[in-house]
Amino acid sequence: MTETPKPDFAVPRHVGIIMDGNGRWARRSGLIRLRGHEAGIDAVRDTVEAAAEWGIEHLTLYAFSVENWQRPRTEVAGLMRFLEQFLRNEKAAMLRDGIRLRVLGRVADLPAGVQDQVRDVEAATAQCARMTLRLALSYGGRQELTDAVRKLAMEVAAGRLLPEDIDASTIESQLYDPQMPDPDLIIRTAGEVRLSNFLLWQASYAEFHFLDILWPEFRREHLLHALRDFDGRVRRFGKVLKQDPAAEEHPA
Ligand code: IPE
Ligand code: IPE
Ligand code: MG
Repeated sequence: MTETPKPDFAVPRHVGIIMDGNGRWARRSGLIRLRGHEAGIDAVRDTVEAAAEWGIEHLTLYAFSVENWQRPRTEVAGLMRFLEQFLRNEKAAMLRDGIRLRVLGRVADLPAGVQDQVRDVEAATAQCARMTLRLALSYGGRQELTDAVRKLAMEVAAGRLLPEDIDASTIESQLYDPQMPDPDLIIRTAGEVRLSNFLLWQASYAEFHFLDILWPEFRREHLLHALRDFDGRVRRFGKVLKQDPAAEEHPA
């Protein structure tokens, strides 16, 4: 394996990845879709390892959306099996590398075996402080917001919250992981240019990086390329920045 250099620039605090293209990779290789998901696990491993080494504090991987339940039963069952195995197999490496696992999504919808592994690895790695790896599982941005609104409505109905006191931070406090900072950079593989219900609220000011590589082919060099691309972006957050060429005023 060729050595990938470390980034020689500041890395974003939170990177989210929409891991797409497993099915296409499998089809291209004449394999069934599940083999694509299986091959995608090596990409996950390399990405997680590099992100932790390079000082990314938060990495969120979109692994299974609420919409993905509509896929064929055998594919869903296979994916769930891989997930369970992944959590079981990677627990030791996560502990060794200081990686804390959190799961974002409707965990109760997952098969009992996956839920057990999630609980086990989350509890075992709770004190790990180098990087937080979040897996979005049975995740949907709209569902997350719906769940949050429902909880706030219950607070209002119970007389514990006034509607006029609801602001952005009140809503954030009801998201799946209120401690999670907003993603700075969202990467999506396989040439699709859409969010597919990923972190809708949190992505308001994220930078996006899309690439044609299919997820099973994604490696740390692609991550490095995305980080370098991000490093060149000007984030204005709606303001006019003094050092920004776009801020130069024409004399009156
Ligand atoms: C991404 O790969 C993995 C999941 C959504 C679980 P896909 O399975 O969506 O691959 P394509 O898009 O069909 O190629
Ligand atoms: C998005 O990929 C979800 C995950 C990567 C888990 P999809 O393959 O499900 O998205 P669409 O259907 O192409 O939008
Ligand atoms: Mg896809």
